[in-house]
Amino acid sequence: MSCLVRRFVPADAGAVAALWRQSFPDDPARNEPLGMIARKLARDPELFWVACEPPADARAGSCSEAAAGAEAGSVVIGALVAGYDGVRGWLYHLAVTPVHRREGAATALVARAVDELRELGCHKVNLQVRETNREVRAFYESLGWTEDHSASLGRVIGDSP
Ligand SMILES: CC(C)(COP(=O)(O)OP(=O)(O)OC[C@H]1O[C@@H](n2cnc3c(N)ncnc32)[C@H](O)[C@@H]1OP(=O)(O)O)[C@@H](O)C(=O)NCCC(=O)NCCS
Repeated sequence: MSCLVRRFVPADAGAVAALWRQSFPDDPARNEPLGMIARKLARDPELFWVACEPPADARAGSCSEAAAGAEAGSVVIGALVAGYDGVRGWLYHLAVTPVHRREGAATALVARAVDELRELGCHKVNLQVRETNREVRAFYESLGWTEDHSASLGRVIGDSP
């Protein structure tokens, strides 16, 4: 199956929220999908992509990038958020719907994000994976990502747990 990677548009919010709820059932309340999407769109909406199953008459080959506006008739099967603060790029919330895994959709999403971060002047991209999430680790390692051997520290500064 081929897929198309394109920038997120507001009409994708429901599909991406459903995908994230399914993929990250243990996420804390602060990661409530529609809230996260709204904050991302308010801050830097360009670093947010979806992978789509194209209309039946357009399916062929492997996952590729779609021109802006190619979303008509497409079904969201994956999503990825990135950030860039001038120092590092970060990837967040990569997910592909279970029935479309192992078809290259996540590979295409990460490639698009890395390309766009590079174009912004970013020299290094980081991400965090839960230590128990061996599948995601295997996915990133298959793309050549390696562990930094740095401790990951965090502090909640909002009201939610
Ligand atoms: C991790 C995830 C995004 C991978 O998506 P995907 O579209 O299936 O990945 P791809 O098809 O691009 O996989 C590329 C390669 O990664 C490796 N890989 C992918 N999933 C793997 C798994 N479950 N176990 C081992 N290796 C895996 C394989 O080498 C694969 O190539 P192959 O299919 O030719 O063997 C998907 O499994 C997912 O959504 N998981 C749940 C959400 C999640 O935990 N996200 C991480 C947040 S940090």
